[in-house]
Amino acid sequence: MKLLIVIATFACYLCLACGFNPSTLNSGSASLTAEGGKAPKDEYKLATDSKKAKGLPVTFSHVNHATKNYSVDGTKTIGCAECHHTEQPAAEAAKHPPLATAYPADRTATLTAETVKDAKTPEVQTCRACHAQDGAKPKIGTEIPSFTAEGESDPTVLTNEEAYHRNCAGCHDAAADARKNVKAPTSQQCTDCHTGK
Ligand code: HEC
Ligand code: HEC
Ligand code: HEC
Ligand code: HEC
Repeated sequence: MKLLIVIATFACYLCLACGFNPSTLNSGSASLTAEGGKAPKDEYKLATDSKKAKGLPVTFSHVNHATKNYSVDGTKTIGCAECHHTEQPAAEAAKHPPLATAYPADRTATLTAETVKDAKTPEVQTCRACHAQDGAKPKIGTEIPSFTAEGESDPTVLTNEEAYHRNCAGCHDAAADARKNVKAPTSQQCTDCHTGK
């Protein structure tokens, strides 16, 4: 009997956790369907053309990162321009040094879940358009961007590997430091991102 109660309680819990969770029910409306502009896909396969041994393919849930409370402290969504950092006016980017660049340079709109739907918002560029693979020429600009990190004296060339690792694993490390039980692969948990799938 006790066991039955436990099972029933667990089943109810499952209902609450999955079935009746409005964010699962409404996952369609939570996705970023654009009207005028170009909408992102819900999921991306990254690093599928890696030139290096450990750079196995990475599955990235864009919809999770753009619509759920995936901020470091787990209370807010991540602003689009926290990742797409050139998709905001230069003056906004400059509030977060070392960031300074806007693309296009004279843009006035900041990318948000709303402005992405507006055809007047400049088209979103992929990270690789600038942060090309080691040795490759980027689509935008004459060379791969570089910057000098705080406390370092030599500039770092921001290849796709450097840029993604700093952005993705940088936040995951901070989230793991700030909270318990965060399911975000840290910079040392390579194969949790590079699953090969
Ligand atoms: C948070 C997820 C994440 C973690 C953790 C992570 N990576 Fe990556 N890694 C990526 C992404 C995303 C890319 C770039 C994908 C792209 O350009 O399409 C990448 C790129 C790379 C590349 C370059 C691939 C190329 O283009 O040639 C290598 C090599 C690599 N990672 C190895 C590692 C190793 C080794 C570790 C652990 C020490 C690690 N990664 C940890 C997500 C991760
Ligand atoms: C956690 C980082 C992150 C956040 C937050 C994020 N994105 Fe993205 N976005 C990416 C990555 C990575 C890609 C895959 C393509 C690439 O390599 O840049 C992408 C792709 C896109 C694309 C398609 C670009 C193309 O040409 O294929 C659009 C459009 C886009 N995002 C819009 C948004 C909007 C709007 C928001 C906010 C509501 C947002 N993104 C939030 C990381 C992010
Ligand atoms: C139009 C070109 C361009 C695009 C697109 C772009 N970047 Fe960058 N990125 C730069 C430049 C240039 C810098 C050097 C700082 C500056 O001038 O703003 C930089 C710096 C960075 C840095 C180091 C600075 C820091 O804040 O730690 C990271 C990490 C980074 N980019 C990640 C990304 C990711 C992730 C994407 C895609 C979601 C992306 N970038 C898209 C041009 C670009
Ligand atoms: C600003 C913070 C932030 C950034 C930037 C970020 N993530 Fe995450 N990510 C999270 C958080 C928080 C979680 C875990 C949420 C949880 O515990 O449920 C997570 C979870 C994940 C997971 C586990 C599966 C999932 O979707 O929950 C993967 C894989 C992942 N991130 C890959 C990436 C990659 C690849 C990038 C860069 C393109 C990236 N993340 C950028 C905060 C971030």
